[in-house]
Amino acid sequence: MLKVNSIEVVYMRVIQVLRGVSLEVGEGKIVTLLGANGAGKTTTLKAISGMLKTEEGEVTQGNIDFNGKRIDRYGPRRLLLWASVRLWKVDAFSSISALRRICWWVLTAAKIVL
Ligand SMILES: Nc1ncnc2c1ncn2[C@@H]1O[C@H](COP(=O)(O)OP(=O)(O)OP(=O)(O)O)[C@@H](O)[C@H]1O
Ligand SMILES: [Mg+2]
Repeated sequence: MLKVNSIEVVYMRVIQVLRGVSLEVGEGKIVTLLGANGAGKTTTLKAISGMLKTEEGEVTQGNIDFNGKRIDRYGPRRLLLWASVRLWKVDAFSSISALRRICWWVLTAAKIVL
C-alpha cells in the first residue's frame, strides 16, 4: 500500500508547487492522476520515486509511506536499492522472474547513475 499524506513540495527552497496532496494506492490497484498543465502531477510522481532530489526539490511537509516504511527522504539510488531488495524477497520462489527483475533494476540504476 502506497500512501501519500498531505505533502508539500518546494523546489530550490522557494518555489512551492504542491500543498496538501494526499492519495492512496492499494495493493494491486492502479490510480490515475488528472490535472491541468502545471498542476503538479509529475512533481507528485517525482516525490514518490525519489527523483525530486535531482531537481533540488524537497518534500517539506507531510510524508510518503510504502508498506509502512517512510520513503520520502530516500533519494533515487537508495529507493531503487531498497525496492530491489523488497522485490527480491517477493520473488524468492521464482528465480527466473527474480533474475529478470534484477536485470531491469540494474539497467535502470545504470541509467540514473550515468
Ligand atoms: N525543477 C523545477 N523547478 C522549479 N519549478 C518546477 C520544476 N519542475 C516543475 N516546476 C513547476 O511546478 C509546477 C508543477 O509542474 P509539474 O511538471 O509537476 O506539473 P504537471 O501537472 O506534470 O504538468 P504537465 O501536465 O504540463 O505535465 C509548474 O508550475 C512547474 O513550472
Ligand atoms: Mg507532467
